[in-house]
Amino acid sequence: MLSDKELLHFISTENREETEGLFKSAQKVREEHFGKTVYFRGLIEFTNYCKNDCYYCGIRRSNTRLKRYRLSREQILECCRNGKRLGLRTFVLQGGEDSWFTDERLCKIVRAVRAEFPDHAITLSIGERSRKSYEALFKAGVNRYLLRHESADDKHYRAMHPPEMKLPARKECLFALKEIGFETGAGFMTGSPFQTPQSLLADLRFLAELEPRMVGIGPFIPAANTPFENHPPGDAGLTLRILALTRLLLPRVLLPATTALGTLTKDGREQALAAGANVLMPNLTPQNVRKLYSIYDNKISNNDAAESVRYLVKKIKELGYIPDCLDPADFIA
Ligand code: 5AD
Repeated sequence: MLSDKELLHFISTENREETEGLFKSAQKVREEHFGKTVYFRGLIEFTNYCKNDCYYCGIRRSNTRLKRYRLSREQILECCRNGKRLGLRTFVLQGGEDSWFTDERLCKIVRAVRAEFPDHAITLSIGERSRKSYEALFKAGVNRYLLRHESADDKHYRAMHPPEMKLPARKECLFALKEIGFETGAGFMTGSPFQTPQSLLADLRFLAELEPRMVGIGPFIPAANTPFENHPPGDAGLTLRILALTRLLLPRVLLPATTALGTLTKDGREQALAAGANVLMPNLTPQNVRKLYSIYDNKISNNDAAESVRYLVKKIKELGYIPDCLDPADFIA
């Protein structure tokens, strides 16, 4: 069991031997539980409308410069078909908090995906909703739900969000999701404005308490036209240390090597795998709207889905990992 003092030490250390030792331990723990397998999840960013106004996020409602889009049910299904062709077995439908997607509309979409893809996992990532709404979505066929808690330190949470957004409400959503039966994901950014080692410690302790199935962790990257646009980005080394610590605290957790880390540093995702991560999330969002899902600047997303899945599969095989998706090279001409 890592003490608070030890955690704070590893959060901050830049000592090379220590960090390498930490990454090695995390890698060993991951291999004990998952071997060399790397899990693939196809991401479908289906709406960039958002009623929230988070100070860090490029799709916040006050960003009036952003062109907004929403995919139709048929477009979402088309993304899923593409994902299936590429060998992916989980679809992650992610979006801003878009009130157009009432329970009725969403459940209709979920039922259509469920009917056409009975053997695929459906993950939703669409923010805070009522317990009733979560229950309806679960009943309609959603298996998993991702909701980053963003910060478990109340003061830090309030420094990144407008007053109407509240940490206790967010935590309540996460516990409700778990109770309902979703495989639940939490998470946060590293190096976000006003974050301290103490707030990161609170994040790690909260994760240990919640015991989520998945934890999304990536560096803060400034987004144009947001209150935090001039703040410096998070640090790759810090992100890797936090990933490794999360692996040690939650040995069986699914831990994505995030696009944000890949955007911040070349080979960032590969480094994340070497620090205990075991999930990759290639983007299935249609090319023509991809640039509009601009939660931060310069997001890597230029390849089409087939290309990026192929690239990631090739890359991780070279590194000695085993992709859990079917090899797209086998059935893409
Ligand atoms: N930099 C990095 N990550 C961000 N997110 C939102 N804005 C940014 C940013 N500027 C993350 C949040 C959100 C997830 C979908 O993306 O943690 O939960």
